[in-house]
Amino acid sequence: MSEIRLSSEKRLRLFSGRGFPELSEEVATELGIPITPTSAYDFANGEIFVRFEESVRGCDAFVIQSHAAPVNKQIMEQLIMVDALKRASAKRITVVAPFYGYARQDKKHRGREPISARLMADLYKTAGADRLMVVDLHTSQIQGFFDGPVDHLFALPMLADYVGKKVDRSRLTIVSPDSGRVRVAERWSELLGGCPIAFIHKTRDPRVPNESVVGKVVGDVAGQTCVVIDDMIDTAGTITKAVEALFEGGAKEVIIAATHPVFSGPAIDRLKACKATEVVITNSLPVPEEKRFDGLTVLSIAPLLARAIREVFEDGSVTSLFDGHS
Ligand code: R5P
Repeated sequence: MSEIRLSSEKRLRLFSGRGFPELSEEVATELGIPITPTSAYDFANGEIFVRFEESVRGCDAFVIQSHAAPVNKQIMEQLIMVDALKRASAKRITVVAPFYGYARQDKKHRGREPISARLMADLYKTAGADRLMVVDLHTSQIQGFFDGPVDHLFALPMLADYVGKKVDRSRLTIVSPDSGRVRVAERWSELLGGCPIAFIHKTRDPRVPNESVVGKVVGDVAGQTCVVIDDMIDTAGTITKAVEALFEGGAKEVIIAATHPVFSGPAIDRLKACKATEVVITNSLPVPEEKRFDGLTVLSIAPLLARAIREVFEDGSVTSLFDGHS
């Protein structure tokens, strides 16, 4: 009599978009598994084609893509990969987007605007994603836009650990570049022994993208080493204006720490020209050689992503990765 065996073994598989394959490779090395071979190319008119070169039936799929510039292309490619996985019978599909594009458009600031961060979540759901894994969302509420589990990872403990070893904690102030990030500054302070916090009172013209107007420093920064924190550095206008305001307020030294190095347009020139001692970021997005400079430190989030992927695959706890700082 012939025998039929059911395969109940779960299979973890990693897939990488073309946004930042080096990060995916790092994650794969951490996990000790290969990236599933994938063919991907662009048609003459910009349309994207993707095909997996091995069977993906029944696998637990993690699709890593950095939403680096050109951001729309990377997002579309990731959506197409999810669609291909769904149609090829992957058992579960997790979208891994270390930097979640369009997160800044998370509400209508004025009438007749989109909520693009919600649209993104809907697109991933429609394509077939079962869950999302992201790092330091612009605002935590974005988790609620996706109809399914969202693993919101934090680079903060890693950044704070690095900075904490370099500074004199008795003269340290954590600075939020706007009032919206004060809660994050408080978490930094908790991790670094309860140092004082300050913030920059910032106003912005919603009709002009990437332009911020810095007001004044709220808090005492005179003689302090200030660590100014943000989720992302795009054109670096926000953060370098904050650095300027801190020195005007009497800060002795300023260090910049941010998770996502978007680094568009004048960012690098601005960062080099500002008087910050060090700029600490992660590799949630690629930082090509020509954008690197003395005083820029890039910390890898690959170990964090790998640990989280393993926890999800093994039905473990992602919260446990943050020792309560979630
Ligand atoms: C704003 O709310 C964000 O948290 C960042 O501060 C901002 O997007 C950074 O943009 P830029 O570097 O262009 O000022």
